[in-house]
Amino acid sequence: MPDRYDLPAGFRWGASTAAYQIEGAVDEDGRGRSIWDAFCERPGAVKDGDTGRTACDHYRRWPEDVALMRELGLDTYRFSLAWTRVQPTGRGPANPAGLDFYDRLVDGLLEAGITPLPTLFHWDLPQALEDEGGWLHRDTAHRFAEYAALAADRLGDRVPAWITLNEPFVHMVYGYALGIHAPGRALMLDALPAAHHQLLAHGLAAAELRARGREVLIANNLTPVRPASDAPADLAAADAYDTLHNRLFTDPLLLGRYPDLTAYGLGPDPDLGGAVRDGDLALISAPGLDGLGVNYYNPTRIAAPTEPGLPFTEAPVDGVPRTHFDWPVVPEGLPELLRTLRDRYGAALPPITVTENGCSTDAALDDTARTTYLATHLDALAQATAEGIDVRGYCTWSLLDNFEWAEGYSQRFGLVHVDFATQRRTPRASFAWYRDLIAAHRASRAGE
Ligand code: FCB
Repeated sequence: MPDRYDLPAGFRWGASTAAYQIEGAVDEDGRGRSIWDAFCERPGAVKDGDTGRTACDHYRRWPEDVALMRELGLDTYRFSLAWTRVQPTGRGPANPAGLDFYDRLVDGLLEAGITPLPTLFHWDLPQALEDEGGWLHRDTAHRFAEYAALAADRLGDRVPAWITLNEPFVHMVYGYALGIHAPGRALMLDALPAAHHQLLAHGLAAAELRARGREVLIANNLTPVRPASDAPADLAAADAYDTLHNRLFTDPLLLGRYPDLTAYGLGPDPDLGGAVRDGDLALISAPGLDGLGVNYYNPTRIAAPTEPGLPFTEAPVDGVPRTHFDWPVVPEGLPELLRTLRDRYGAALPPITVTENGCSTDAALDDTARTTYLATHLDALAQATAEGIDVRGYCTWSLLDNFEWAEGYSQRFGLVHVDFATQRRTPRASFAWYRDLIAAHRASRAGE
């Protein structure tokens, strides 16, 4: 097995965060209200009634956080812009004070020798756009492209590459189909237009970014799908799940078509609830992608459906360690997923960056479980690169403990522990381990 430093010479080391999960300062400098501000006010929506009102107070403490990143020796910092800081209601002219914050952050990162890798949308839609239908409404895609242009006009001179969307699958399913994330709508398959409108938003924004000479990525949550058995009904169910989770959000980008959704009673040429119009798929796939961001946490095991409604049931992944979140730990799922992408998309597959990977632990500073999780996943990743799969970088989730959506502050993903009462940051053991790994990789490659 290749050792974990056996990654390509130019391999870029990073860490990820997202605006609503760390910034706080929800009423500062003209920021508008987002769907997460609204969702957190719903009784029972978020564990323990937690909200992102203060989160890690990164809006004020960012210099301290950039200093931590410098100490880590990061090449890349993946963060997201809050759309409502840039356009408080999701339309109209830019709010200069909101953009000033990202301007300072970008300059601070560059001064620290770190390349900023911003995501334009990490789930915090302006509430004003949700009031008009959110991602069920086609116009939201056009509003997103306008926002992308405003952001790139201000920051693009220093930001070479942009991620349009984070995990459109999770946003559609949790936010619109099941209602366990903002905006809290439980529409089941009627949520599908939210898939198409997010992808259209990606395509329209990509054109704006490209017109400004910037590179374009998207960060998809992808999972290797394992059938519960070789029984034909389990195989068919696994295929149906793979289609919804992985292919629905990647085929249109790389192949210019939607997969067959016949298993869902929609197909073979799905129009995603009537959302797809002539020319849309050309737009979504046209500019190509400069990189595919892959967020990998675990594989998914799927069996034949046990109840009517969906063509699959999720089955437990047994016999493996589990994280504090109770997610199965399966490092070899990462190369398994990357091989599937290579086999499925061939020459159409752009270079990959792992844009999220990590685990939650309890609050302890001695987080051996995290170090083991990261080390084994990096070993597995090195295996994939040794097989010739083009992986350019790795961003761990996450730099800091933060607001973990519906789980509030109960799941800690940080290399850095945050005391949410005092906002004190304390690097965990995994922080020192990651810092040393980055330094060792650099040193071992310096002579090549
Ligand atoms: C991903 C999200 C990220 C974080 C991690 C744990 O699905 O993109 O914001 O919540 O999971």
